[in-house]
Amino acid sequence: MSLQGKVALITGGSLGIGAAIAQRLAREGAAVTLDYHTHRAAADTIAAGITSQGGKALVLQADVSQVAGVQSLVSQTVQTFGRLDILVNNAGIEEPMPFLEVTEASFDRQIGVDLKGAYFAAQAAVRQLIAQGGGGCIINISSVHEDLPMVGNAVYCAAKGGLRMLTRTLASELAPHGIRIVNIAPGAIATPINAATLADPLKTRALLAEIPLGRIGLPEDIANTVAWLVSDQASYITGTTLFVDGGLMVAAGTL
Ligand SMILES: NC(=O)c1ccc[n+]([C@@H]2O[C@H](COP(=O)([O-])OP(=O)(O)OC[C@H]3O[C@@H](n4cnc5c(N)ncnc54)[C@H](O)[C@@H]3O)[C@@H](O)[C@H]2O)c1
Repeated sequence: MSLQGKVALITGGSLGIGAAIAQRLAREGAAVTLDYHTHRAAADTIAAGITSQGGKALVLQADVSQVAGVQSLVSQTVQTFGRLDILVNNAGIEEPMPFLEVTEASFDRQIGVDLKGAYFAAQAAVRQLIAQGGGGCIINISSVHEDLPMVGNAVYCAAKGGLRMLTRTLASELAPHGIRIVNIAPGAIATPINAATLADPLKTRALLAEIPLGRIGLPEDIANTVAWLVSDQASYITGTTLFVDGGLMVAAGTL
């Protein structure tokens, strides 16, 4: 599963799932760009760990909800490493609240990071992939909530549902260029985004009851899946979603 000679850009690479993906792809030999939004020290620590093991890592700051930000992530990656092969749209936020309480600002923030960010990062990456030739791969870190409704989290569900259709549509549009695009839909993964739930024993027990494999996922469960999906071993996979959720969707009767 070697990614020797490949270059990967991971948005939101300083923490949680994004950090694990950057470490995993670097271990397979890829040079990685870690985008961070506000956690510079955390991104530097991940990058230092990668370089201390002989890998290549570049740390860049960008707010993915700004088109100029994602364009600059791609152009600086290419300036440094000479090419781009893999984009992982991982950055994501959620601001759960009842439907009637959602403000325009909260709606714009969530859609801006979770959907618009992924869209324009993909656009910038695809321009580069087409220019250099030889194809490439885009992975969107979506969520089980691209398909599974979640009361009190409608904007997040709408953004992740949008990612599902983006992936299905772009798969056909980009296939002639040899570019694959795949969603990974994590279930409950132990990261800062759901720290509040995991700090509450009652909520954790209720969550575990919904997961047939009986454990909360780890960032590495997602990172291992990304490493495989971007490799040549998955070269016939595009335009679909892989659920990495311990069976949560099956238990919910959704799949
Ligand atoms: N943890 C879970 O249970 C879970 C489940 C399903 C889906 N996901 C998805 O996985 C992805 C990663 O989430 P996580 O669990 O690691 O959460 P996290 O909060 O630990 O990480 C989110 C990352 O996104 C970055 N980010 C936030 N706003 C940004 C912006 N404007 N510009 C650039 N980066 C920004 C953060 O800095 C951070 O690195 C998200 O897309 C999330 O929706 C997580």
